[in-house]
Formats: sequence, structure tokens, C-alpha cells
Amino acid sequence: MAEIMDKIVALCKRRGFIFPGSDIYGGLANSWDYGPYGVELKNNIKRAWWKANVYGRDDMFGMDAAILMHPKTWEASGHVQNFFDLKSDCKSCKKRFKVADLKDHKHCPECAGELTEPKQFNLMLRTYYGVIDDPASVVYLRPETAQGMFVNFLNILNSCHPKLPFGLAQIGKAFRNEITPGNFTFRTREFEQMEIEYFCRPEEADKVYEEWVDQRKKWYLEIGIRPENLRIRQHQKDELAHYAKACTDVEYRFPWGWSELEGIANRTDFDLRQHAQYSGKDLRYFDDATKERFYPYIIEPSGGVDRCALAVLVDAYYEQEVKGNIRVVLRLHRDLAPIKVAVFPLLKNRAEIVETAKKISADLKKFFVTIYDDTAAIGKLYRRQDEIGTLFCITVDVQSMEDQKVTIRDRDTMQQERISNDKIVQYLFDKLGKGCC
Ligand code: GAP
Repeated sequence: MAEIMDKIVALCKRRGFIFPGSDIYGGLANSWDYGPYGVELKNNIKRAWWKANVYGRDDMFGMDAAILMHPKTWEASGHVQNFFDLKSDCKSCKKRFKVADLKDHKHCPECAGELTEPKQFNLMLRTYYGVIDDPASVVYLRPETAQGMFVNFLNILNSCHPKLPFGLAQIGKAFRNEITPGNFTFRTREFEQMEIEYFCRPEEADKVYEEWVDQRKKWYLEIGIRPENLRIRQHQKDELAHYAKACTDVEYRFPWGWSELEGIANRTDFDLRQHAQYSGKDLRYFDDATKERFYPYIIEPSGGVDRCALAVLVDAYYEQEVKGNIRVVLRLHRDLAPIKVAVFPLLKNRAEIVETAKKISADLKKFFVTIYDDTAAIGKLYRRQDEIGTLFCITVDVQSMEDQKVTIRDRDTMQQERISNDKIVQYLFDKLGKGCC
């Protein structure tokens, strides 16, 4: 288990996917920076999610609410009162532990020192809003994007006039002062969420909940996660968050075991009622047909972008023996691969070969994410692209100068084909489909 994670962490750094945060200062523990290919992978995941959940449906509206919200939001949501872990500190080594993780509540699991009495530790990060460091200006960095959608429910009703059932979708950063972050990007203090708040009639909530569980599992399969590594798991009553009546997780089989990728919760009418009470605004929905006014129920599929990216990387990692050597390849789904096409000149010292390769790359950039690379020998260039998960590599060689053809190599089959320069775009569209860029 450790071995495969070590390999993935090393690949992520070596190939520009994910670096330790603030690396030159020795790193900020459990913070991570996404490099050139990591940001492409995350953007592609977010695009696939948005396409499926906003553009692909008639009942969904996108949103992008502010990270910093009125402090009353977090009183209404219950986060001020309920969003905490019990923790104990070690009096000797000063490390902090989540009580739920401890077998022995008196002694430190690392140095056997004496532990303090458990204390409540709120997981929200705080800052000051404005220029005065005064307790009245304390605000929280949002621990979930969800509340930005609940507080805009009325704005959406008044501006877009949707009919139930309908949903809001948002992608954005969230922050939690996690006591036990770890497993690379799996649990961090700063992360990104992809959340849907789907509003429906209370009597339809159970059915809508089941539909979203199915939809969300299907989506992970559609972006290429292997079915044997995906499962759903219903929460026990004692696992439920303070706002949820029911919750089902979509779990991925990570190298350390099955763990949550996404939770689909039935939040009932808890949030709208709470915000109505704290804001004094009427947040009920008015049904024109039946003339009823009521609080809709909310079904919430809530996933993490970073967790999804990590699962995708783990799932796509393959080692293959080729002619006595180990070939490492990321078999990423074509929509997620950071780079679709790489173009190389076989000989760097032949100006006409370099020029042709650069021109082909520039032409392909109009349609596909393409890079030109001549910084190493051809074998090394292929290895580099395999580890990034690039779908096609195009090589311009001496023969190309005579027959105006190039060699195109497929990442997965490793088959090479000679294609006329003027047919490359069509060839790639045939292979990748028009929706893939
Ligand atoms: N609005 C509901 C909510 O926030 P959650 O189960 O606490 O529910 C939803 O979080 C998703 O956000 C998780 O399934 C996970 O993918 C991601 N997530 C939560 N905490 C995280 C953390 N500390 N680091 C990385 N991702 C996290």
C-alpha cells in the first residue's frame, strides 16, 4: 500500500502534477500545490462535472458564491455549535489527537506521554474581515460551499423563477482545521468541493435521493474509474452529520482501503428553515398550481475535487513491462488527460524537421491541448508523456520531409501509424470525439 502511494506521490512531483506546498521553505504540512499537469487534471474533472450536472440538464443552475460569508450563516447552519472534534493534546510531545482515533484516552499513542482532558475543537478556520482585529469582525473560511447556495435560494427564485424540483451547482474552495490530515491530498485543510443542492417536494425526497446516488456513482464510472474500485455505502445513524436524515457515500478503493469520494445526503428542510429563522426572510417556495407555500427538502451530492483527482491518478497508474523495461503509464480517460497530443521532432538539429513539428503543434493547438517538446531524446520524450497520460504522440522524422506524413503513437495500444499531415486533425477527432479538447 505504502509502496504504490509513494510511487504516485513521486510521479506527481517528478512530472509536475502536485508539489508539496511552500516546498522551498520545507513545506507547510499537508498543503499541496498543483503544477501544470495537476491543474489541467483538476480543471478537466471540474469541466466534466459541470458538463454532466449543469449543461447536461434543464433543472440545474450554476453558482459561485463568496468564500467569506456573514458570521450568522454559520450559527444558522449549526457549524458554530456542532462542527467540532474532541481532541486531546500530549503534554510531552505537544501533538494533538482526535479522541475518536485513540484507543487509550490517557496516554499519547506516539510517545506514551500524558494526554490532556478532551476539549472541543471547532474545525472552522477564522480570520478578520476588514482592517480592525476586533472580535466583532471575526469571519470563517467556509467549511463547505453548500451554505452559499442556501443563502441565495431566494435570489435564485426571484431571478430565474425555477419550478421544483431544481438544483444549484457550485465548485469552490472549502477549509477545515482537520486534526488528522493525511494520505497525500485525501484529507487536507484547504480543498475544493463540487456540490449540488437539489430542492424538491418533501414527499419526493426519498426517490430523488436514490436517483442522485445512482447518478453520482454512474458519473465516476463515466470518467473512467474502474467499477471494481467503486462502491456505495449507506451511513449508520450515528455517522450522520447534524443536518442529515440519511447519507450514502460513493467510496473508492484507495491503496489504504475503501474511503469516501463523495457523500449524497438528505438534508431535509433543515437549512432553509434555519436560514429563514436567523435572517427573518421567508424562504418557503410558493407552488403556483397548488397555491401551497412550503420549505422544499434538499438532496445534496457533495464531492471533493482533490479526492476525485487522487482516485483518478491511483486508478490510472499502470506499470507495464516493455522489452525488459518497466513502462509507467497513466491511462487517464481522454476527457481528463491533461495533454491530448505531444509533437516531437526526431532530430533537433534539422531545421526543417523542427519547423514542421512546430507548425503541426501550432495547428493542433486550435483544436486540442497540444504541446511541442524537443528537450530530450525520443525515448525519453515518450516516457515523459506516458507518465503524464498524453493520449497521442506525433513524431516528425526525416521521411516526413519527403512524404509529408508523421508517425502517430497511441498511448494505450502503443501502435504507431503513418498519417498525412493534412489528415492529422481528422484522425484525432475520429479517435477523441468532438467534445474532447
Ligand atoms: N456539504 C456537505 C459536506 O461538506 P462532507 O462529507 O463533509 O460534506 C463533502 O464533504 C466532500 O468534500 C467529501 O466527500 C470529500 O470528497 C471532500 N472533503 C471533505 N473534507 C475534506 C478534506 N479535509 N480534504 C479533502 N477533501 C475533503
